[in-house]
Amino acid sequence: MSEPIRTQVAIVGAGPAGLLLAHLLAGDGVESVVVESRSEEYVAARIRAGILEQSTVDLLRSAGLGERLDREGARHRGIHLQWPEERHHLDFVDLTDRSVWLYGQTEVQRDLVAARTAAGQEVHYEVSDTALHDLETDDPSVTFTSSEGEARRIVADVVVGCDGSFGPSRAAVPSTVQQTWERTYPYSWLGILADVAPSTDDLIYAWHPDGFAMHSMRSETVSRLYLQVPNDTSLDDWPDDRIWQALATRLGHGQDGWELTPGPVTDKSVLPMRSHVSTPMRHGRLFLAGDAAHIVPPTGAKGLNLAVADVGLLAPALVELLRKDDSRLADDYSDTALRRVWRCTHFSWWMTTMLHSTGDPFDEQLQLSQLRWVTSSEAGATGLAENYAGLPIGF
Ligand code: PHB
Repeated sequence: MSEPIRTQVAIVGAGPAGLLLAHLLAGDGVESVVVESRSEEYVAARIRAGILEQSTVDLLRSAGLGERLDREGARHRGIHLQWPEERHHLDFVDLTDRSVWLYGQTEVQRDLVAARTAAGQEVHYEVSDTALHDLETDDPSVTFTSSEGEARRIVADVVVGCDGSFGPSRAAVPSTVQQTWERTYPYSWLGILADVAPSTDDLIYAWHPDGFAMHSMRSETVSRLYLQVPNDTSLDDWPDDRIWQALATRLGHGQDGWELTPGPVTDKSVLPMRSHVSTPMRHGRLFLAGDAAHIVPPTGAKGLNLAVADVGLLAPALVELLRKDDSRLADDYSDTALRRVWRCTHFSWWMTTMLHSTGDPFDEQLQLSQLRWVTSSEAGATGLAENYAGLPIGF
C-alpha cells in the first residue's frame, strides 16, 4: 500500500451531502478528502429530487453556491392539491412567508462539483472495497481500492458517511448500538421526464381512486410527472400512451378547461417508496449525514433538503471540534439532527398516506376528509405549508 493520505475529515460519498460538507468545511479552513464508488458522470447525471426548501436555498446562497440557482431556479409560491372535481392552491408565502425553489438535484450537484473542482478538492471517484476502521479511536481511517487498482488508506480525525443507504458507513455502526425504524409502502412511483412545457404553474399533487399522480417540472420546456403504481411494476407494461392516459385521468384533464399536454418521454423509471431512520447519527469518530442515516418517500420533497440540513448542522460542529477542540456541537449532532429527521419522516409519511390509494374504502374517506381540511382550514393549510417550505435549520 502506498503512503496513507492524511486529512482532517474523510468523507465517504460525493453526492450533494458529501460535496456540500467538503465545501462548508473548506470555507472554515478544515480540509477533507472525498471517496466515491461511482463515476463523476454517474453521480452528476442521476435524476433525483427537484424542490429546494427555503432553508436549503438560504444555506446554498450563504455558501456562495447560489448564483446559478438565482438565475435559473424558479421560485414557487406553493402547490396545488386536488382530487376529482376539486383543485385548491396552497400559497406558502401567504401562509408562512416562505417559499420553495424548483432546481433539480442534478443542478445542485453540478454547482457543487464546479465549486469543489475550482478549489482543488481531492475526490477519488470509482473506488471499490471502501471500508471504515478504528472509529472508536482518535485515528479513524478509510481504506479503498483506487480506480487504478491501488490499495489506499486515508487517516483522518473524523470520518463522515454520506454514502447513502447501501454504502458501508451505516453498516459500520455496531449492531449493539444501532437502532433502525422502517416502513415500506405497498406502492411505487413510475416517474417520467418529458420534453414538453409544463401544463401547470405550480406543482400538482393529485389524489385519485386509480392512484396518486403528480405534475412537477424541471424547466420551461421539461416536465417531470409521476404515477402511483403497484410494487414490482415492470416498465414494459407502461408504454408512453398508457402513461399519458393515466396521467390525464388522474390529473383531471378536461376539468374546468384544464388540459395536460403530452410530449416525448426522455426517461422512465420505477421508484420504490420507503421510510427508514437509523440511529445514532454519530458513533465515536464516525458521523452520518443524508441518506446514510435516513430515507423518506419522495412525496414531501424532503430527501435532499434533509441531507442539506444535516450537513448544515454537522459542518459547524466539526469546525468547532477540529479547530477549537470544543466537542459540544459534535456531541449534540445526532440528537439535534434527529429532531428534524423525525419531523420530516412524519411529514413525508403523512403526505404519502394522505395521497396514495390503498384500495380500502375507509382509508379513502379519511384521505378525502384530511384533504378537505388542509385546503379549507387556515390552520390545516399552514401546517402543511410550514413543513413543506421547510422549518429553519436547527429546528
Ligand atoms: C420532482 O420534481 O421530482 C419532485 C417534486 C416534488 C416531490 C417529489 C418529486 O414531492
